[in-house]
Amino acid sequence: MQTVNIELGSRSYPIHIGTDLIGKQGLLADSVRNRAMVVTNETIAPLYLDKTLASLGNVPSCSVILPDGESFKNLDELNKIFSALLSENFDRNCTLIALGGGVIGDMTGYAAASYQRGVDFIQLPTTLLAQVDSSVGGKTAVNHPLGKNMIGAFHQPISVIADMSTLATLEERQLKAGLAEVIKYGFIIDADFFNWLEANMDALLDRDALATATAVRRSCEIKARVVEADEREHGMRALLNLGHTFGHAIEAAMGYGHWLHGEAVSAGIAMALDTSRRLNLIDSQTEQRGIKLLERAGLPVQPPADMSPELFLRYMARDKKVLSGNIRLILVNDIGQSHVSQDFDHGALHATLSHFCE
Ligand code: NAD
Ligand code: GLY
Repeated sequence: MQTVNIELGSRSYPIHIGTDLIGKQGLLADSVRNRAMVVTNETIAPLYLDKTLASLGNVPSCSVILPDGESFKNLDELNKIFSALLSENFDRNCTLIALGGGVIGDMTGYAAASYQRGVDFIQLPTTLLAQVDSSVGGKTAVNHPLGKNMIGAFHQPISVIADMSTLATLEERQLKAGLAEVIKYGFIIDADFFNWLEANMDALLDRDALATATAVRRSCEIKARVVEADEREHGMRALLNLGHTFGHAIEAAMGYGHWLHGEAVSAGIAMALDTSRRLNLIDSQTEQRGIKLLERAGLPVQPPADMSPELFLRYMARDKKVLSGNIRLILVNDIGQSHVSQDFDHGALHATLSHFCE
């Protein structure tokens, strides 16, 4: 087991990464103060719920099983977590445990942020995407029909336990979606990691254990350092949203769940690269290098045919990065270098939208 610590003063916590961690004696149980509620979904429950409850040992615990899917990441389903907690008389000393991918993690985190004004929660991420990104950093949220992740809070978990053994049951399409967020880290901040991904993409697609462990650990290290520097996204944390302004528009406009989050982010990164090239920040060789890596990961580099420039702009105007009415984009200056900008020539953005939606 390897541990990456995220240093946030009183909100610091460990990210444990390894195999067979759910069954590891004491790892989960020792973090729980009083009673535990495991939140999971109907796909993950038959695979890992019994093991998780068993690893809680003598800790009094129960579970709530939600329907599976991004389309259920909403206030109605969130209310089911509150109903379960209230009907079991859970108090402020309880701990919620998010057993699942980013959807369960984000919903459980938001439930923990708001139940009795805030209780502890632990992330047990079971998708690649959740292990490399969503379980770390304390962003929690549910979707609104008019915008992705629009209702939420910053609330850090007390620990993250990334059991890579769970990835064995993950569908191919979900694995690839997770790789979009891994590739993102290379683009925004770490050229060496991007080079490593170019050399190891086949191993990652083959689920090679060493390559996967390296990718998860490096991603968590990068995310931890960014969140330590800017927990509440007043500055550099926005870089983690490369491709997301376009991607969130795709997810919301297509109906949540049709395009996976990672797929939408991948197409969004391709679009951000296009805008960056039009603004002369990168040359077409750098752009093509990025596109090639996304394609090798089996990810889309074009938005769905149903998207139009108008649809993009309607949803992009509601992005959380919009400040005082100005769309802000993450632009790439080179592999491993990026910045947030609102002072760009909007003609380049419109040209990107026209090009990808023609
Ligand atoms: P997901 O949670 O929907 O999981 C993907 C699918 O895999 C689901 O059907 C799930 O039931 C299934 N699954 C999960 N683990 C499995 C396993 N081990 N074996 C078999 N099936 C398994 O999707 P995701 O890609 O994990 O997360 C996407 C969500 O994360 C989006 O809502 C996105 O907005 C959010 N997100 C949040 C952050 C953040 O910082 N909070 C960052 C990135 C993404
Ligand atoms: N995934 C974006 C963030 O955590 O800030």
